[in-house]
Amino acid sequence: CVSAGCTLVNHERALGITAHTGRSVLLPCYCTDLHTTPERFSWKKENRHTKRREKISSGSGQYRDRVQLVNGHSPGNLSLLISHLTEEDGGDYICAVKGSHIIIKLTLQGCTLVNHERPLRITAHTGGSVLLPCYCTDLHTTPEIFSGWKYKTVTNMWEEISSGSGQYRDRFQLVNGHSPGNLSLLISHLTEEDGGDYRCDSKGSGYTDIRLTVEGKTLFISAFLRSMCLDSLTS
Ligand SMILES: *[C@@H]1O[C@H](CO)[C@@H](O)[C@H](O)[C@H]1NC(C)=O
Ligand SMILES: *[C@@H]1O[C@H](CO)[C@@H](O)[C@H](O)[C@H]1NC(C)=O
Repeated sequence: CVSAGCTLVNHERALGITAHTGRSVLLPCYCTDLHTTPERFSWKKENRHTKRREKISSGSGQYRDRVQLVNGHSPGNLSLLISHLTEEDGGDYICAVKGSHIIIKLTLQGCTLVNHERPLRITAHTGGSVLLPCYCTDLHTTPEIFSGWKYKTVTNMWEEISSGSGQYRDRFQLVNGHSPGNLSLLISHLTEEDGGDYRCDSKGSGYTDIRLTVEGKTLFISAFLRSMCLDSLTS
């Protein structure tokens, strides 16, 4: 009795799959008969520069701890799950068994932060709160490396804002409204010192600049009273 072995379900042409950075993707590969167990199989990726096909391993290299075989209890299902995708993961993947192989072309869609050319101007009032918007043009994507929000100091240096320390304590909060590509910052209990230049920074995805003006209530009221006086003088 000779086992029929595994023949891969072929897609005629290479299968194209698009995925988003920061997310995961399932690369499908399975035997025509899901009950067959292939004697040998491998997943490889073509190196973009050398064009060589390199074995994918979860033990080391680029895919360390990011790849997993998920067969859903079918021995003939050789599908590969890749998580925490980066732009580097784009390219040709080859699933091979003895006698046949398939090619999957993976395209990665990354995050580009909405950029306003010039800093976006926002005005708020002391004691209130303000949302500094920052998001990827495609909200399904996530920046690979989000460096966080920065504040420009009087010495023109970008200083990182960490919500745990100093003047930022508890008043600064990242709010994403369930979209991983939304990196907006909510500042509450505004003080006049919060006014200034802010930058939402992401390596490889660009940045968003915001110029925040915080107007004091006293200033606001005096301006109001002055306009009242002018009104009464002119009438
Ligand atoms: C292979 O397993 C994955 C993960 O469980 C599942 O999503 C996929 O549908 C399976 N493919 C087939 C052809 O059964
Ligand atoms: C980002 O999240 C905030 C807070 O939930 C929300 O107000 C804002 O509209 C979101 N921005 C986008 C572009 O979805």
